[in-house]
Amino acid sequence: MGQHHDHAGHDHAGHDHTDMDFAEMLPLLVREAELYTPSYREAAAWLREQQPEPGLIVDAGSGPGVISGLLAATFPGARVVAVDGAGPLLEEARARADRLGYGDRFSTLESELADGLGELEYPADLLWASRSLHHVGDQRAALAGFARGLAPGGTLALLEGGLPTRFLPRDIGIGRPGLQARIDAVHEEWFTRMRASLPGAAAEIEDWPALLASAGLRHTGTRTFLADLPAPLSDEARAFVVTSLTRRREGLAEGLDPDDLATLDRLLDPDDKASVHHRPDVFVLTAHTVYTATRTD
Ligand SMILES: C[S@@+](CC[C@H](N)C(=O)[O-])C[C@H]1O[C@@H](n2cnc3c(N)ncnc32)[C@H](O)[C@@H]1O
Repeated sequence: MGQHHDHAGHDHAGHDHTDMDFAEMLPLLVREAELYTPSYREAAAWLREQQPEPGLIVDAGSGPGVISGLLAATFPGARVVAVDGAGPLLEEARARADRLGYGDRFSTLESELADGLGELEYPADLLWASRSLHHVGDQRAALAGFARGLAPGGTLALLEGGLPTRFLPRDIGIGRPGLQARIDAVHEEWFTRMRASLPGAAAEIEDWPALLASAGLRHTGTRTFLADLPAPLSDEARAFVVTSLTRRREGLAEGLDPDDLATLDRLLDPDDKASVHHRPDVFVLTAHTVYTATRTD
């Protein structure tokens, strides 16, 4: 999937053009997944309770493969295949696997998720799909494709929903309190437009257990994992906040009122002591919900 392609890039912050370029997001995707590692590790440990010894793990919509690597570490006996539509992200996933020492049991597969999982050699015992399904126009059809890629008794783990990420207290001493809640509201509208613009877009109630059931799977559990980086932040976490808010500033500007835009500009100005570059009260707090289901037939 290249830059020209439909939704080939996801922008969490929400560029108003809903056409996406995931490859361009590589540094952000890596930093984000690395920051959220404790939360994903907990999720993987929970999955191990359901699926102790998977032979093949597929990471559908892996991006740069940070979570593929965590899964490889949690399941040292498993082969891991990272599937994604963005070739450059898979190259990074490959390099990461070699660097971190699981390259001999890791492979990548460039594939469009709308059509299923591509040419897997074996069906998956554990299929992980985090924040990728919502980029496919027809999520129900894609889930059916995921289900077809599962071995009998295999587990699908879908990370979707959860809570929006918060970086700032309600009252930050500049502008009108509640800025992030208003940004989130504008982002929700953007997300709706993004989904509507996807090829084959089908409106869907985001009842993930019901959708898993409609793919012929048995819903086995739902758990939410907190990602909690309190202030004071590390330099990496602060850089992530800067990048995320910058993308919101660029992408959601039309939906925000001038006062909020002025506040965002101050928050992003490195010369302003009240900016997120300097202020001591910046944090990263979010929650990731994982839905599991099993193939019973
Ligand atoms: C938001 S990123 C998530 C990356 C990773 N799973 C994570 O949670 O950090 C979404 C990923 O899904 C991929 N993707 C989105 N739509 C896709 C599609 N229709 N076919 C294949 N890959 C797709 C993107 O290239 C991107 O790597």
